[in-house]
Amino acid sequence: MVYLDYAATTPVLPEAAEAVLRAMEKDFGNPSSVHAYGRAARNSVEDSRDAVAAAVGASPSEIIFTGGGTEADNLALKGSVRPGDHVVVSAFEHDAVLEAAGGLERQGVEITLAPVGSDGIVDPAAVAAAVRPSTVLVSVMAVNNEIGTVQDPEALSEAARAVKGDVLVHTDAVQALGNIPVALNSWGADLASFSGHKLGGPKGVGALFVRSGVTLEPQLHGGGQERGLRSGTLNVPAICGFGVAAEIAAKEVYEKAERLAELRARLLDGIRSVTSDVVVNGSLERRIPGNLNVCLPGTDGETLLMLLDASGVACSSGSACASGALDPSHVLLAIGVPRALAAGSLRLSLGRGSSRDDVDAFLQALPEVIERARRGA
Ligand SMILES: Cc1ncc(COP(=O)(O)O)c(C=O)c1O
Repeated sequence: MVYLDYAATTPVLPEAAEAVLRAMEKDFGNPSSVHAYGRAARNSVEDSRDAVAAAVGASPSEIIFTGGGTEADNLALKGSVRPGDHVVVSAFEHDAVLEAAGGLERQGVEITLAPVGSDGIVDPAAVAAAVRPSTVLVSVMAVNNEIGTVQDPEALSEAARAVKGDVLVHTDAVQALGNIPVALNSWGADLASFSGHKLGGPKGVGALFVRSGVTLEPQLHGGGQERGLRSGTLNVPAICGFGVAAEIAAKEVYEKAERLAELRARLLDGIRSVTSDVVVNGSLERRIPGNLNVCLPGTDGETLLMLLDASGVACSSGSACASGALDPSHVLLAIGVPRALAAGSLRLSLGRGSSRDDVDAFLQALPEVIERARRGA
């Protein structure tokens, strides 16, 4: 099998798996316990907190470990607003943000969806235009999970704060860490979400960066772990794996970017030589190097995926089959891709382990896959 689905999840790095196992075997103490077992587990957690903080340009005290990116997004949104407040989120956010915003709306929070350009970029001026006196939070993702486009977080924060100085700025940076340098100091974000399994760590662990001085309402109540913001006994093994993966991801980001940019160019050239009518979704320049999201006119995503899977290639489509009808991706619709075209989308995402052989295997399978998909089988 060829794996071209790194945006969905990544293989666990051997170093991270080792850290998980070590923590399971040696650090089984409860990190809240005062005895030596507890202290050993606590030390491992704090080492991971240091590593994650260093990887994203934050202080360790600003990192709250969570059960993944979804939980971090939910804590950021639900923890910072109350009924009657106004929130701005971009129209192409991950469902973890959009659905959290939807839940808040049902409780009396006003939500404005900021538009996204056809290039997959959110114009800071559009965000500024949506901010009003009751706006408490603005949330725009740093890197989109489907089309890989990269925002200018600094410009977005500045634009929002130029209208309302005390507005909180959240960014879902789940797809950013390991793909672009993450510098929360200069981004100007108050809150940022991360997930372990997108960067070679285990699943079910993530973090919310909470800038020092920002207060949130906890969503999980209990023993008061994580500065009272996320009660529950810490998942020490997963946190240890995440810490190791975050350190490696940050260290390798430039070298990986260079390698993946080359592979992606090969991929796109190859697809164009198979079918010249391929449409690239969003800006090719302002996107992480490992992402390629295309539409193949006259096909549907589900069929493409099944045929590719049968040919030994694992990737994703932006469209999902909901009750028998193809439901095109909200991301592609948000950037103005016509419904019929959006139905035939493919997301190919490369990562640390991707090679020329992977790209070539995909390209070899592609002509027959497209031909069969256009025939409807
Ligand atoms: C941009 C983005 N945000 C949030 C999430 C959710 O993260 P997790 O799978 O850790 O809950 C994902 C994962 O698909 C994502 O890509």
